[in-house]
Amino acid sequence: MKLHETLQPDPWHFVRPELADAYLNAFDLKLSSARGLFARRRMGKTEFLRRDLLPAAQQRGYLAAYTNFWDSRSSPASALVSSLAEALEPQGIRAVLAKLGTPVRKVKASAKIPGGIEGALEAELSAPEVDPGVALREVLRQLDRQKKPLLLVIDEAQVLARAEHAEFAHALRAALDVRKDRIKVIFAGSSETTLREMFARASEPFYNWAALEPFPLLGDEFVAFTIKLLNRMARYRLTLEQGRHAFEELHRTPEFFKRFVERYMLYQLDGDEAALSHTKASVFSDENFLKQWTAMKTADQIVIAQLARGETDIHSAAGVKRLTQMLGRVATKNTAAQALRRLQAQNVVTRLAVGDYRIEDEAFAEWIRRRIAPRR
Ligand SMILES: Nc1ncnc2c1ncn2[C@@H]1O[C@H](COP(=O)(O)OP(=O)(O)OP(=O)(O)O)[C@@H](O)[C@H]1O
Ligand SMILES: [Mg+2]
Repeated sequence: MKLHETLQPDPWHFVRPELADAYLNAFDLKLSSARGLFARRRMGKTEFLRRDLLPAAQQRGYLAAYTNFWDSRSSPASALVSSLAEALEPQGIRAVLAKLGTPVRKVKASAKIPGGIEGALEAELSAPEVDPGVALREVLRQLDRQKKPLLLVIDEAQVLARAEHAEFAHALRAALDVRKDRIKVIFAGSSETTLREMFARASEPFYNWAALEPFPLLGDEFVAFTIKLLNRMARYRLTLEQGRHAFEELHRTPEFFKRFVERYMLYQLDGDEAALSHTKASVFSDENFLKQWTAMKTADQIVIAQLARGETDIHSAAGVKRLTQMLGRVATKNTAAQALRRLQAQNVVTRLAVGDYRIEDEAFAEWIRRRIAPRR
């Protein structure tokens, strides 16, 4: 998808040109060619990257590619290849398709279908006979011919830390390594722990490759902007104070604040406090975690509780013994393995390496820790 085609204008978007410039300036200084950003979920990473950073990069003469590994966690390689290919001009795409052995006939026909040549590319790259490694090489070869440098944004980059993607991660690192002056990369994600593993562990392909830093969060200016806009449309205006209060109460989370604003717009007569308590009830209801928890099998609950506590010996004799005690029936290594498999299938848990598991959502992990404390 081309950036400008997929994003509708959003009047509620609070622009952050200075922040975008700061990142781009740092790349221009050539001090680094990659950065890693993390912030908790729903704090505005993706919105900034897509609506502020990438368009600003294009204005500075970069080609821009965005890929979200979470949307394609089973095949990050083909997701990356498509996003890189979309940064190319149609001729470049054609050249890639030709290399991959797509008959020109097929490409021509697809130019008439919705999505055109890019649609053809998507379809082609996801074809089972296409080796993503070969496709990546071809796309990079085309990119190497471009005059413009490329800014590549990899959102939800923590997916790369998964053991099953190790080979791809190494290939990617190698490809980027030799192009440091032409390809700048931003890795973003919500799991600081997992990103740290990626960049700070000597055995990981991206060891020491990018500086990892917190993503600057939205604050007072964002609130002021939103309240001002709201007041242009609302019958009953809100003060900045009321807005700030709601933002604080919602743990300074932009997404939740926007929900508050929406609720208030619809039920202005009920007042801001009513809108706030409605929003809080719906977003912080530990209800969601509770629902997720209750839906789990007992063995899964026990295993995830062990992970939340940082116990890693799930498969060991001691781990299985604990599982047996807590389950109240005989557990085996296999019981633990199956629980872990289910938790991974539901994307609750990620396997980083043999025997090394992480709970994806740090908020859920925290909720579990609070629930099981004090230690039994
Ligand atoms: N700059 C902004 N202006 C207005 N609203 C914003 C802005 N940034 C974020 N938001 C609001 O917060 C929501 C969440 O933002 P976003 O999806 O970018 O968060 P995220 O950090 O990428 O979260 P996740 O880790 O879950 O992917 C957006 O859908 C939007 O409602
Ligand atoms: Mg995001």
